[in-house]
Amino acid sequence: MSIIAGTVTVNAAFLQEIKEDAREFRQLLTQATAMLEPAQLPALDCKCLVDLLGKLRDQLALHFTLEEAYGYFEDAIDAAPRLSQQAETLRNQHQSLFAEFCQLVELSEQLLYHEVGEERIEQVARRFQRFRAELQLHESREHELILAAFNDDIGGGD
Ligand SMILES: [Fe+2]
Repeated sequence: MSIIAGTVTVNAAFLQEIKEDAREFRQLLTQATAMLEPAQLPALDCKCLVDLLGKLRDQLALHFTLEEAYGYFEDAIDAAPRLSQQAETLRNQHQSLFAEFCQLVELSEQLLYHEVGEERIEQVARRFQRFRAELQLHESREHELILAAFNDDIGGGD
């Protein structure tokens, strides 16, 4: 099912399927969350953290690439401007979320190679929590978009 949404078209079924299939991505996110719990920080192994965040960055890139390739489409027909604007905003968020996560990976590498002091681990943990909250908000808005697109499809469009 493809919903025409102005300049950006949402393919609700594909977008939903990509989210359901992103098991490895979610597992890594859960692992990183556990590793960066405040109680775990004093005994944190920086090499493990860098490895885990590196894998998570690759999965994040894959996840966003799949969503952009199959979940969103460019379309010239302006049939549902409300959905189109939301779709465009959410698709554009991928770039800033990914850039933010890459900075986090760089900071963890600096920690590993002692380019910054160990006290910066708390900064890594804080930034990770913030990233996770932003990602969660982004994902829930995409879920809302999927539902709105399905509803519009059932109701015959905007
Ligand atoms: Fe997304």
